[in-house]
Amino acid sequence: MKSVLVLYYSHGGHTARIARRIWETVIAEGNQADLMSVMEADREGLDWNKYELVIIGCPVIYGKFNRQLVAFVNRYKAILDAKATSFFSVSLVARTPAKCTPEGNVYTRKFLENNPWKPKDAHLFAGKVDYPNWGWLDTKAIQMIMKMTKGPVEPTAIIDYTDWEDVKEYARHCLTIQA
Ligand SMILES: Cc1cc2nc3c(=O)[nH]c(=O)nc-3n(C[C@H](O)[C@H](O)[C@H](O)COP(=O)(O)O)c2cc1C
Repeated sequence: MKSVLVLYYSHGGHTARIARRIWETVIAEGNQADLMSVMEADREGLDWNKYELVIIGCPVIYGKFNRQLVAFVNRYKAILDAKATSFFSVSLVARTPAKCTPEGNVYTRKFLENNPWKPKDAHLFAGKVDYPNWGWLDTKAIQMIMKMTKGPVEPTAIIDYTDWEDVKEYARHCLTIQA
């Protein structure tokens, strides 16, 4: 039995749902696990000694990973380096197979190359288009990206590109990562 922390940032709730599915799968596999947003972890603190495996997820928002999450993982780099770790990113460009690998996805590749904290493992998930629930400006900006990459542009589009079976498979895979 492993003790696992699933830590995430989510702008609109989709990465939170992926993190929750990972957490549920880890528990279903007979492990102990906690699920926490980076905001909660940052404010309340956490007992790192409890965890052998830390899984960290973040969406790509305007080409970047959340600043608070990045600062948090770098602040605790020494602790994380002593544990089994995995990082998953969520983005719309990852809906195409070529951009769904750490090498093919420029945001994730740059993060893995340049960030001081380096996870032992990385994975990508395609995210969700949710125009009706996004603000006017965000919708316009993503519609522009979608137009350039032949994605959906209808203002009513809500499309979940995440492969939920892969989310479960990823959770099980994370349990095999060594510190
Ligand atoms: C404001 C905004 C900016 C985004 N920027 C990008 C981007 O630069 N590249 C990309 O591939 N996806 C982008 N996305 C898509 C998100 O990564 C995707 O919708 C993801 O599922 C969001 O997860 P969340 O609901 O946890 O925030 C953006 C979405 C929003 C709302």
